[in-house]
Amino acid sequence: MTRTLVKDALAADSPRDSILIQGWVRTRRDAKEFSFLEVNDGSCLRGLQVIVDAALPDYAHIHRAATGAAVAVRGRLVESKGAGQKWEVAAETLEIVGECPGEYPLQKKGHTLEFLREIAHLRPRSNLFGAVFRVRSRLAYAIHRFFQEKGFFYIHTPVVTASDCEGAGEMFRVTTLDLAAPPRTKEGGVDDARDFFGKPAFLTVSGQLEAETFACALSNVYTFGPTFRAENSNTSRHAAEFWMIEPEMAFCDLQGDMDLAEEFVKALITDVRANCAEDLAFFAKFVDKELLTRLDFVLERPFERLPYDDAVDLLQKSGRKWEYPVERGQNLQAEHERWLTEEHFKRPVTVFNYPKAIKPFYMRANDDGRTVAAMDVLVPGIGEIVGGSQREERLDVLRENLAAHKLSEKDYWWYADLRRFGTVPHAGFGLGFERMLMFVSGVANIRDVIPFARTPGSAEF
Ligand code: 4AD
Ligand code: MG
Repeated sequence: MTRTLVKDALAADSPRDSILIQGWVRTRRDAKEFSFLEVNDGSCLRGLQVIVDAALPDYAHIHRAATGAAVAVRGRLVESKGAGQKWEVAAETLEIVGECPGEYPLQKKGHTLEFLREIAHLRPRSNLFGAVFRVRSRLAYAIHRFFQEKGFFYIHTPVVTASDCEGAGEMFRVTTLDLAAPPRTKEGGVDDARDFFGKPAFLTVSGQLEAETFACALSNVYTFGPTFRAENSNTSRHAAEFWMIEPEMAFCDLQGDMDLAEEFVKALITDVRANCAEDLAFFAKFVDKELLTRLDFVLERPFERLPYDDAVDLLQKSGRKWEYPVERGQNLQAEHERWLTEEHFKRPVTVFNYPKAIKPFYMRANDDGRTVAAMDVLVPGIGEIVGGSQREERLDVLRENLAAHKLSEKDYWWYADLRRFGTVPHAGFGLGFERMLMFVSGVANIRDVIPFARTPGSAEF
C-alpha cells in the first residue's frame, strides 16, 4: 500500500476505505475505549487525528506510541466528528516504527528559540521550524521560477576562488598546507605556491565576478548558491555561511537593475503568500502579528527611490539621536536604514548613487566623479536585503579603480578581458536568501531560518 501524506489526506474530497499514514506522534490522549493520536509527517503544519480502538489487537502496545515515536497507521479515512478537522483516520493496524523515550526534548510546547537552536537536528519537527523550512523550500523554487520564466540562465559559479569580490578581506582561507609546519620560501614566509591550488584560495563571498563573464555571453543569468563571510559580527542578520541570489544582465544600467530588484522582491512575496498560506498564517499568529499587513503593504505600494545624498540629509534632519553619527561619505548603518524604511517612508526604500570611496572596485563611476551607480534595497524589519550596482564596463576606468583599491590587474586579467573584448554596460544585484526568508516569515534571527547556522564560534552539526 502506498503512503498518503498528511497534507493530501487532509485535502481529501471523499472518505477512503484504506489509507496508510506514516509520521511522528505529536500527542496521544487515552480515553476509555479509544486513544487519539495526532500524527504529523512534516508535509504540512497540521497533523492528522488517528483514532485507535481499544478493541484492536495492536492496542496492546499503544503505550509505545509516545510523543516523538515514528508510526505507520493503516485504516479508513473518515469524516471527523470532532471540531477543528474535517478528516480523521480510524486505525485498523498501528505499527510502532521507531520508539521515542521520555527524554525526547520536544515533549512540550514553549521552548525558547535559543534552546531549539541547540537541538537544530530535531527542531524541524516543531511547528515553527517545520513551517520555516517548508517556506524556505518554496522560496527557493519561486526564485528559480521567476528567473527561468524571464529567460535567465542559471550559472553555477565556483565556491572556491582566489578573488575577493567585495574587497572587504572577509574570506575563509581554503588550504591543505600543514598549519603546524607549512612549506617556507627562501625569505621565510609561507610558500603559497606549494598549496593545493598553487596560490592562496578562499571560499567565495559572491559569485558576481564569474556571473559577469556569463552575462557577457548569455545576456541574462543568475547564480543561487552558498557564500561565505568571515566577518566577526554577531548580529541577528549576519551569518558566516548564507545563500545569495545574484542576477546579472548585459545591456542593462542601474535603472533596469533597480526595476528588476523591486519586481523580484514583490514576486517572491506574492508567490509565498499564495503558496504557503497556512504556514504564513501560523507566523502571523505566533511570530509577528503585523506580518501579513506588512507583506501586503509592500505589494501594494511602489518602493521609494532615494539618492544616497538625500538619504543622508533626511537622516541628519531627523532630530534622532543615532548610535553611529550620519556623515556624508560614510556607510549607512542598520539603524539608519531601518529608520528610512520603517519610520520615515514606511515602505521599502531603494537608496542609490553611493559614495565611491566606500564601495568595491567593480562599481561604475558616475559622471560627478564622487559617486558610483550602486543601490541597496531596504525593507522594514530587516534593513538591507539587496545590494547591487551597474558594473564599470570602461577598461581605462576599471584599471584606475583596481589601482585605487590596490588590486593587481594581473590577478583580474580575465575580468579586464571582458572590457577589452566587446564590452557592454551591465548590471546586477545580490539578494540575501535568508534575509528574504526572515522578511516573509517575520522570524527575527537569521539563525532561525537556516537549517544549521554558521556564526562566529559556532559550527555544530
Ligand atoms: O551587499 P552585498 O555584500 O553584495 C554583494 O555581494 C554583491 N556582489 C552582489 C551583486 O551585486 N551581485 O551582499 C548582497 C546581499 C545583502 O544585501 C544581504 O541581503 C546579503 O547579501 N548578505 C548577507 N546575508 C546574511 N549574512 C551575511 N553575512 C550577509 N552579507 C550580505
Ligand atoms: Mg551590501
